[in-house]
Amino acid sequence: MGADGHAGIESVAVLGGGTMGGGIAGYLARAGLRVALVDASLELAEQARERLLERTQGHVDAGLLPDEATAATARVATPPDLEAAVGDADLVIEAVPEEQALKEDILGRCSAAARATAIITSNTSSLPIGGLAPAVGEPARFLGVHWFNPPEWTPGIEVIAATGTSRETVERVVAFLRAIGKRPAEVADRAGFVSNRLQMALLREALACVEEGLATRESIDEVVRSTFGFRLPFFGPFLIADMAGLDTYQSVFETLEREVGPEFAAPAAVRELVEAGRLGTKSGNGFGDYTEAERERLLLERDRRYAALAKLLAELDDSG
Ligand SMILES: NC(=O)c1ccc[n+]([C@@H]2O[C@H](COP(=O)([O-])OP(=O)(O)OC[C@H]3O[C@@H](n4cnc5c(N)ncnc54)[C@H](O)[C@@H]3O)[C@@H](O)[C@H]2O)c1
Repeated sequence: MGADGHAGIESVAVLGGGTMGGGIAGYLARAGLRVALVDASLELAEQARERLLERTQGHVDAGLLPDEATAATARVATPPDLEAAVGDADLVIEAVPEEQALKEDILGRCSAAARATAIITSNTSSLPIGGLAPAVGEPARFLGVHWFNPPEWTPGIEVIAATGTSRETVERVVAFLRAIGKRPAEVADRAGFVSNRLQMALLREALACVEEGLATRESIDEVVRSTFGFRLPFFGPFLIADMAGLDTYQSVFETLEREVGPEFAAPAAVRELVEAGRLGTKSGNGFGDYTEAERERLLLERDRRYAALAKLLAELDDSG
């Protein structure tokens, strides 16, 4: 794909060739971009590139990627240092370890060496983008672009603007991510963003269940993946709650509050909706509004997707 097809971005520098940076570099090279990968030393960058090539070959051998993927991934370059890598880049992706001081140092060097038009992004999982922004000379071109592991296969990416990030930068990055087949969602700049706030809450409660003797880790993994987790490829918490019934959710919150703890008190938003008779799809509105026809379509589409997922799990022989 040419420059326009990638929102004017042709050349990318990936800084840090570990779990995330390596996978991101390979994905972008296979999407047709010019990719430079650097690590803490040239030797480490070359090792990261070797690991990436092995991983790609493994995916080709397993039938997950076409044969051409090997040659496309081999085009990932390893320039001698960070300055050489970012000097030619339209987009910089910082993916070094999750340490504020290290990221500040790397972003400062990027900012000095990159072209004024280059967009600089951080893949931080949790550090506020506004706290990293002062390290970048021109904050208008800096933002968080949070990929998920494994980056080749996970579609979603959080896009996080800091107060100084320009709208133009955000829009260009969103267009770029869509052009390479990802599903960006813009979220606000607060530690952990949305994904890790929710993920960590789930893990915290899962560990509390183990500690309270409710179930083993294995049983909890099974319950999560095969009950409410089964829905998550298709629906988020609001649509799921609307389909379940907000009055039912309120009763569950009340029981949990009484029996488990005050942190489970029904949220005000749920209480207000129930009070107003907005109970979800069954009453025609809840968090969302649904005509009779929309509700029928939604429920049929839900069941069509669940049936397809159940079949896929059986085919993968991975249903339990
Ligand atoms: N692992 C995940 O699931 C995941 C998911 C999303 C975001 N992230 C974030 O992505 C970033 C990288 O995480 P990771 O899991 O890939 O870490 P990692 O430890 O696997 O990789 C980090 C890489 O950075 C390199 N590095 C260290 N110092 C460097 C320097 N001065 N210059 C260039 N490279 C340097 C390391 O040698 C290593 O190869 C972190 O901010 C992390 O929070 C991780």
